Amino acid sequence: MMSETSAFPLSCDILVFGGTGDLALHKLLPALYHLHREERLPADTRILALARSQRSQEAYLALAERHCRAQVARADFSVADWQSFATRLDYLAMDASQSADFSRLRQRLKFGHERVLVHYLATAPDLFAPIAQNLKVAGLAGPNTRIVLEKPLGHSLESARAINQAIGQVFDESRVFRIDHYLGKETVQNLLALRFANTLFEPLWRSAYVDHVQISVNETLGVENRGAYYDHAGAMRDMVQNHLLQLLCLVAMEVPVHFDAESVRDEKLKILQALRPIGGLDVQDRTVRGQYGAGRIGGQEVPAYWFEKNVDNDSDTETFVALRAEIDNWRWAGVPFYLRTGKRMAKKCSEIVIQFKPVPHALIGDGSGPANRLWIRLQPEERISLQLMTKTPGKGMRLEPAELDLNLAQAASPGKRRWDAYERLLLDVIQGDSTLFMRRDEVEAAWRWIDPIIAGWQEHYQRPRPYPAGSNGPEQAQMLLELQGRRWLE
Ligand code: BG6
Repeated sequence: MMSETSAFPLSCDILVFGGTGDLALHKLLPALYHLHREERLPADTRILALARSQRSQEAYLALAERHCRAQVARADFSVADWQSFATRLDYLAMDASQSADFSRLRQRLKFGHERVLVHYLATAPDLFAPIAQNLKVAGLAGPNTRIVLEKPLGHSLESARAINQAIGQVFDESRVFRIDHYLGKETVQNLLALRFANTLFEPLWRSAYVDHVQISVNETLGVENRGAYYDHAGAMRDMVQNHLLQLLCLVAMEVPVHFDAESVRDEKLKILQALRPIGGLDVQDRTVRGQYGAGRIGGQEVPAYWFEKNVDNDSDTETFVALRAEIDNWRWAGVPFYLRTGKRMAKKCSEIVIQFKPVPHALIGDGSGPANRLWIRLQPEERISLQLMTKTPGKGMRLEPAELDLNLAQAASPGKRRWDAYERLLLDVIQGDSTLFMRRDEVEAAWRWIDPIIAGWQEHYQRPRPYPAGSNGPEQAQMLLELQGRRWLE
């Protein structure tokens, strides 16, 4: 948590709308289980999962237990802990689009002056506005309530605005928590510590010294069982509009005046506003979209995107995007930020590379060798490494790169379990700290930049470039950098 905005409450109700969905079962309940086990929840916390399907409390607990067992490391799961967690967990079958069902919901809740009420909307976004309205009518949107919205937050600037407006009519902005789980990752926060708690990098963190920046979020997974959603979203809306742009903001933003929600988000917003627009024919030079074909991942044959469940068999949705972003401000003028994300790539890795410029005059060697490079690996490993030039052992003066390497997981607390992003973010919501959540204007500024790219793709229609599953994406993505004398650092 970044700032202590208010005292930690003693009692809290967490309502999980979409309680039988993937997000609730795979992420939220396991995160809450860990928080319970480590006694980090307010003492009197109740969790109420809500979904349409009629099932008994026992049946829901059995479903939740099955998923938690699968998600939680064996060493962290015990029957005793599960049973004590289960005493906090209830299930209520209700239709969130029906206002009548909210009276039943209200009857299930305890009320008290200090009791915090968190509405976690792990549902499709078309339910966000009706749920907010129904909460208001039922008297469940008072000052101690908070609403958490999961992405996708709209499909475009217009639809995001409509959602924000509908939510804003019920909850003031300080009680709206738009989640981007990348901001809850330990290493992503470490990026801020690296930048703002060390004097070393700040003077170099600018166009005079930085040649370019690469931000890659590559996955080996395909669309799994989310084909119906993904085929309408694609990698641009699913990943670039949120996670990649948020990472770009954290790398590029100015030092905030304070480390609080408004100051940090003000600085991120300035970066989004300074992004040079990409639209029209520009999309051909500055963006590449791709779609995976059949291939092999980890020795296993995997099908082409077209053959995934709930995906149109003539789909032209992109599962890969690479693009060159530019930030028109004093600090970053002329420094390309290359962003790349893809599914079914050769390896899972999320990383940020700051490539520094070569020395101005090559005193040793011919100056053609690699220059300094700061490599921030977010996952699966959590590492920060700095590439320095060293002398090759032996006679003569030849140079070779060597790495100063910091394994964050081991350095911080060897053997200690790393918190999942959702654990940290859930605690922040309970406490009312929105530093790590996206403000309305940020989300809209991100869409304002993304919409013209998608429109450009539609205007100058091009099928996504094919790439085999298990590769590094389409060859056009390599060309994007090669044409500028650079390459993706794998
Ligand atoms: C989600 C996207 O927001 O992030 C998924 O919707 C993606 O498509 C996931 O797989 C990646 O998150 P992580 O934490 O596994 O890198």
